[in-house]
Amino acid sequence: NVNCFSRKNKMNTHSATALAHPNIAFIKYWGNIDHDLRLPANGSLSMNLEGLFTQTEVTFTPDISSDELVLNRRQITGPGLERVSRLLDRVRQLAKLDDFARVTSENNFPTGVGVASSASAFAALSLAASHAAGLELDERQLSRLARTGSGSACRSIPGGFVEWQAGHLEADSYAFSIAPAEHWDLVDCIAVVTTEHKPTGSTQGHFLAATSPLQPARVLDTPRRLEICRTAILEQDFETFAAITELDSNMMHAVMLTSTPPLIYWQPATLAIMRSVQSLRSQNFPVCYTIDAGPNVHVITRVEYAGQLTETLTNIPGVEKVLTAPTGGPAHLVEHGF
Ligand code: DP6
Repeated sequence: NVNCFSRKNKMNTHSATALAHPNIAFIKYWGNIDHDLRLPANGSLSMNLEGLFTQTEVTFTPDISSDELVLNRRQITGPGLERVSRLLDRVRQLAKLDDFARVTSENNFPTGVGVASSASAFAALSLAASHAAGLELDERQLSRLARTGSGSACRSIPGGFVEWQAGHLEADSYAFSIAPAEHWDLVDCIAVVTTEHKPTGSTQGHFLAATSPLQPARVLDTPRRLEICRTAILEQDFETFAAITELDSNMMHAVMLTSTPPLIYWQPATLAIMRSVQSLRSQNFPVCYTIDAGPNVHVITRVEYAGQLTETLTNIPGVEKVLTAPTGGPAHLVEHGF
């Protein structure tokens, strides 16, 4: 709800605070045709995750001589700050503003458990920064802005079930809602797998996608998978949804495994969960898995099965904990900063 905003006007300072949810993709984004603008090789489809969020306050002020970033109460410098500054530069350019910004951001979910925070982070940053700069961007413009910070962040701007149309140009690559959060009672039970290894991040992964001989076939087939997944969601057809979601995840991991160098994100527990999910589904339990650039498994079910599923997943050796998230709403401005 972009209308319930707070833009505090202190002396020459302009602040705004925004909240955004991470999202889980059923049809995945993997590979870019333009890495700078984050124009993706293929369209993707996701749902936002309620209960998990990033809240970000942005204040433009003439009092500082460079951008400042505090993330989860820790001052961030180096590449993390530079990535944020690049997005702030776009906002400054659009708003014809020279001031640097103080950015304070917090995730309500633990970092380092492998739940990606770049989507919620850049969605919240885009909304807070553009508003603090006095811009009134519509949802499409916000989605494009968020995309330049992190591709998947463009899908955390609209609410509920969201499709990112790949587009060919900067202007036509953005995400939109295909159904609101209330449309279908899906729940993501995230089985957090213990790991000591820091995997190759998605940004590097997108560069490697083109080295896999399987990537062209995956990209070429994406409109077909998108259509099947979109229709299954709109018709609440879990069986079809489950099959296409698992196929898409397997196809992305096939590309990862066949890149140079290969990316192997799975741990033994990852595979144990995949097998357990398939066995549950063969017993008519509505459940499917999808896996991002890490060992955690996102296990999707209907809300009435989430309790039983969480218990089953928790008992699999190597599963550290299970986070549950139903479908979430859009990024929005909030009244209170930190
Ligand atoms: C496997 O959006 O995290 O989660 O644009 O470099 O920030 P950057 O990449 P990111 O890539 C997401 C990859 C994925 C699949 C998906 O969410 O669609």
